[in-house]
Amino acid sequence: MSTRCDRTEAWAALAGHYEAHGREFDIREAFARDPGRFESLAFEAPGIFADLSKNRIDTATLHFLADLARECDVEGRRDAMLRGDPINTTEGRAVLHTALRAPRDKGPHSDEVHRVLDAMLGFAEQVRDTAASGIRHVVNIGIGGSDLGPQMVIPALDAFAHPGITFHFVSNVDGHDITPVLRRLKPAETLFVIASKTFTTQETMANAQVARAWFEANGGTDVARHFVATTTNVQAAAAFGITTTFGFWDWVGGRYSLWSSIGLPIAIAIGGDNFRQLLAGAHAMDRHFAETPVARNLPMVLGLLDVWYRNFHGFGSRSVAPYHQGLRRLPAYLQQLEMESNGKSVDANGEALPFGTSPVVWGEPGTNGQHAYFQMLHQGTDVIPVEFILVKHPTHGLSDLHDKLLANGLAQSQALMLGKTAAQAAGEKAPTASAELDAGTLSRHRSFPGNRPSTSLLLDHLNPHTLGALVAMYEHRVFVSGAIWGINSFDQWGVELGKALCNDLLPRLTSGQTEGLDGSTAGLMRRLRG
Ligand code: F6P
Repeated sequence: MSTRCDRTEAWAALAGHYEAHGREFDIREAFARDPGRFESLAFEAPGIFADLSKNRIDTATLHFLADLARECDVEGRRDAMLRGDPINTTEGRAVLHTALRAPRDKGPHSDEVHRVLDAMLGFAEQVRDTAASGIRHVVNIGIGGSDLGPQMVIPALDAFAHPGITFHFVSNVDGHDITPVLRRLKPAETLFVIASKTFTTQETMANAQVARAWFEANGGTDVARHFVATTTNVQAAAAFGITTTFGFWDWVGGRYSLWSSIGLPIAIAIGGDNFRQLLAGAHAMDRHFAETPVARNLPMVLGLLDVWYRNFHGFGSRSVAPYHQGLRRLPAYLQQLEMESNGKSVDANGEALPFGTSPVVWGEPGTNGQHAYFQMLHQGTDVIPVEFILVKHPTHGLSDLHDKLLANGLAQSQALMLGKTAAQAAGEKAPTASAELDAGTLSRHRSFPGNRPSTSLLLDHLNPHTLGALVAMYEHRVFVSGAIWGINSFDQWGVELGKALCNDLLPRLTSGQTEGLDGSTAGLMRRLRG
């Protein structure tokens, strides 16, 4: 077992490096000192070019971080994951989402993985033959990892999607989610995919019951043809009356499951060949992660950068800004991936950790975010590293719009870094400013601190292959920071308490029994029932 990260020599060296160079590090000065900075902090991985030069790092920082990775045995932990060791120790499970995208005969569990994949893709093609299947609407009913992956990927790959099928996602147990969806459907044209790893999740089971009741009440006759399940719990799906089930395995974590049969709606949308491209892109990133030395390994370097910012600079969040409308659900997807994986306060042995772990991950597509919260990123009191995702070639022909989009993305990262001094602001005209205000006060309002870090990820195209690589890159990056922190990134005990308390409160909503409840919950319940 490796030493806890904060007890390593590299951690102490990083603390010293932070005091000597990190705290006051100025990205603008670093560029002035080093004309080769862009080139030396550029990274290439399958489908992705990454510019890290607008971060508060230099090659010495990366050197110390690589030492930390070595002392924390991140490569050994990575190899254990890829081998299928039961690294999810609290659940006694292997973590093998990488096996789902390995070519036939090239990864663990290959026979069963490819048996299900072939069956699922065959089924997807049948559905896509709309003349024969009659299916015009696919409704995915699932939540968390059984929702966010397909919900993120399908709009991202809209240019590749079947034009005759509309996809709907129902996740919330709030009836306002499913009601407007059902209003637009006809049973004979609809396929419901009940997606749940466990097939016990309250929200999904409740919505599945509503969907079936609606189907039968509206003249639907063949439940077996219009409901399919994607789950590890084939028996429970059968008990629900579903005869077509695509399985997966307990070694696939929910938030790592879009590559499994949970990806069925994706396969229906983009077809089998494109789904295989998505897997191939992810596999290419798996190879990069497995084989590239730490110093040039993109998920490694980004995971280490996350540790540098979280534990040395003390930055508590990271904003993701995809400059591609198709990636509008990526921040939500990454929230689960990162915060459910690394939002832990004990290490793998259950020992309390004295340092910060998962940052808050949040964001919106550019340019929309610019007109909402970017104000805070530029002039707020917190420093929040931003991640820009830019795609060189759009799939539409509106090149004028695309140039504006790219210029905006570049301008934002530039503005965050460059800032503007009060003296610069004083030298500019401000036609909308109040004439009452003295020039000094106004220029302080109009100045920007700058030196705010950002990373830019560039994709030539957003297609199944590059998207697969991008998502796998994020998975591995989360693995790296989790491995440094020594936590189990693959369990999620933190979601249990709320589920248990909900089970206790649910009957009380009917009975009105508030005995034994805390005063606030009892008071709120009385008001909700009154
Ligand atoms: O409540 C959290 C969680 O267990 C997630 O980890 C998971 O992705 C989600 O619920 C859905 O679970 P299931 O796929 O079993 O319905």
